[in-house]
Amino acid sequence: MRLWGRATAVRRRMLCLWLLLLGFALVTLALSDLFSNRRRDHSLQQPGPPRRPLQRIPNAPDLEVIVDSRDPALELGVDLAPLKSLQEDQLLLVPSGQGTNNPSLRKGSYKVLLPGANKDPRAPAAPTHGEMGKAARPYLEGMEGDVGVSAVQKYGFNEVVSERISLHRRLPEVRHPECLGEQYSESLPSASVVICFHDEAWSTLLRTVHSVLDTAPKQYLQEVLLVDDLSQHGHLKSVLSEYVSHLDGVRLIRCTKRLGVGGCRTLGAARAAGEVLVFIDSHCECQKGWLEPLLERVAQDRTRVVSPVMDVIDWQTFQYNATQWPVRGVFDWRLDFSWESNPQLPDKDPDSAVRPVQSPALGGGVVAVDRHFFQSVGAYDPGMVLWGVEQIELSIRVWSCGGTMEVVPCSRVAHLDHRQLPYRFPDQELLQRNKIRIADTWMDAYRKIFYRRDTLAHFIRQSESPNITERLRLKRSLGCRNFHWFLTTVYPQLYIPQDRPTLSGELYNVGTGSCADYPRGLGPQGGAMNAAPCSGTGSQHCDLNSEFEVRWGPMGALCLDASGERVILSPCPTHRPTTRRLQWKFIKLSGQLVHQQSQLCLEVVKEGGLTQSSPRDVNTRAKTGGLFLRPCTHHPRQQWHFEQLVAPKGA
Ligand SMILES: *[C@@H]1O[C@H](CO)[C@@H](O)[C@H](O)[C@H]1NC(C)=O
Ligand SMILES: *[C@@H]1O[C@H](CO)[C@@H](O)[C@H](O)[C@H]1NC(C)=O
Repeated sequence: MRLWGRATAVRRRMLCLWLLLLGFALVTLALSDLFSNRRRDHSLQQPGPPRRPLQRIPNAPDLEVIVDSRDPALELGVDLAPLKSLQEDQLLLVPSGQGTNNPSLRKGSYKVLLPGANKDPRAPAAPTHGEMGKAARPYLEGMEGDVGVSAVQKYGFNEVVSERISLHRRLPEVRHPECLGEQYSESLPSASVVICFHDEAWSTLLRTVHSVLDTAPKQYLQEVLLVDDLSQHGHLKSVLSEYVSHLDGVRLIRCTKRLGVGGCRTLGAARAAGEVLVFIDSHCECQKGWLEPLLERVAQDRTRVVSPVMDVIDWQTFQYNATQWPVRGVFDWRLDFSWESNPQLPDKDPDSAVRPVQSPALGGGVVAVDRHFFQSVGAYDPGMVLWGVEQIELSIRVWSCGGTMEVVPCSRVAHLDHRQLPYRFPDQELLQRNKIRIADTWMDAYRKIFYRRDTLAHFIRQSESPNITERLRLKRSLGCRNFHWFLTTVYPQLYIPQDRPTLSGELYNVGTGSCADYPRGLGPQGGAMNAAPCSGTGSQHCDLNSEFEVRWGPMGALCLDASGERVILSPCPTHRPTTRRLQWKFIKLSGQLVHQQSQLCLEVVKEGGLTQSSPRDVNTRAKTGGLFLRPCTHHPRQQWHFEQLVAPKGA
């Protein structure tokens, strides 16, 4: 709060300046009055249309900064129109009446809202300090084109429930009792909290902001930077500007182009003044005392990148669910991130309730990192688009290039779990393109393992090459280690598939034309296998290795197993040699897959357990019952082969 303690009057004046900088489009008689006021103030700069980029005025408690992010490195490689960019006035106002998605509306149709001087009877009065805690709907009538849309559909969570909850709600104490007695250094570094958002709901965004302000000790909180990644919703325009103008220490930055999570955070970081950057998703709630343990760990070692334990807010009820400790972040061979609960850690000591654990990766929800280290290690990859996997790229890079990552148990922040992705990718391939950048930049020859498990990425990669010149240069100049080092030193628990030709791929059943499958949602504990249409995406990839295990899934952590005659998946043993119950032999000539312990064969069995074909077979085979062990015969339902979707030498 060092910079932001100035009087409201000053801020009001800056507001006027800022409005002027909106430019010629908004110049009216009323504005020209303000204009002359402004001339009288010698501390102000030359009036006139805004020149790009609009700079922060040094030492001024500016309400809002519009950033022209025209750095070519930040350009999206694909056309996201109309989301790609907005005019400066569009950043602050939406067209009145309708058409938030219509980029062709003329300027004349914009409703002009003067923050702080709101005379529109339909608009809410400017919130006073006493009122700001209420989760009132600040929306302007007619500003939202989609009021009728269900809150859940719009945001992927129950916004109606969220709006009934205070912006200052108190969270239940879920920290370990030992955490409450922890002592932290008295001179911790200052933190800049960077919150990027794109079309976030009002209540969740403001609850995030208030929860930071309510929990972070003032002496450590340099500022909160709200970075608007080209939002289109009306309540995030001037209504938000107005609201934020009443919050000490909160600054709003607006990008003129859609940058995505990585680009948006990098932009916030470039404008931050604190010693430590804390990136927070725009739908989080911080537990008391969350900041100090993070700052302490970073202060002790500036190359440490740390995360709190991420608790979960239910998308339907907004209930707070504590996450079990220990937990750490991991990713699989499809480059999908997950939190791993109860990881196999080498040492379990009595202090473990308060001791941070090293983590091969950290989620994107909350990350704290020294500002200089963040910049020197290459910020976020500017070639990544929108969102998805930027946290995995950061993780591999931090570890490989001299840093470490850990989860700090005495720091807890809750993240709102969305029911579904509220925003679809404009192009389904964007996520794969981001993954391709990771594979080609960081994974060396191991990238083939990825491409076999994500065939869409493989085919995209065959027709186009990512421009990773700059990232490879960075990797060289930092002297980063290779992926083999990462796998053996940082993440030795990740199974490395062998993917031998004819012994890996989709497990195709000749009798039914379907593939061995594991229903989604059964989770990492294992469950019954079935047969389903072959996906062709790599999601059904399995790997019969030299231990005679059939390793399943992108993590390779589940093994084909038998429970009675039912064929199931169960967690693979972490030690060698493997259990005999998990061993299978593939007989290439007959296509039989023989369970070694029982000497029975793997067979697709229809629901009801009948093995005979029925006339309706062709129609129902997509729903064939399951995989069972049966005495070996030459029935086609016992004939299998491993279908390689990607040539072994490919990618
Ligand atoms: C919260 O925890 C309970 C009990 O562990 C669990 O049943 C429930 O699914 C959890 N909810 C969420 C949203 O994770
Ligand atoms: C790749 O990007 C670099 C700068 O980031 C640029 O100089 C180079 O021309 C680009 N290469 C291609 C093939 O576009």
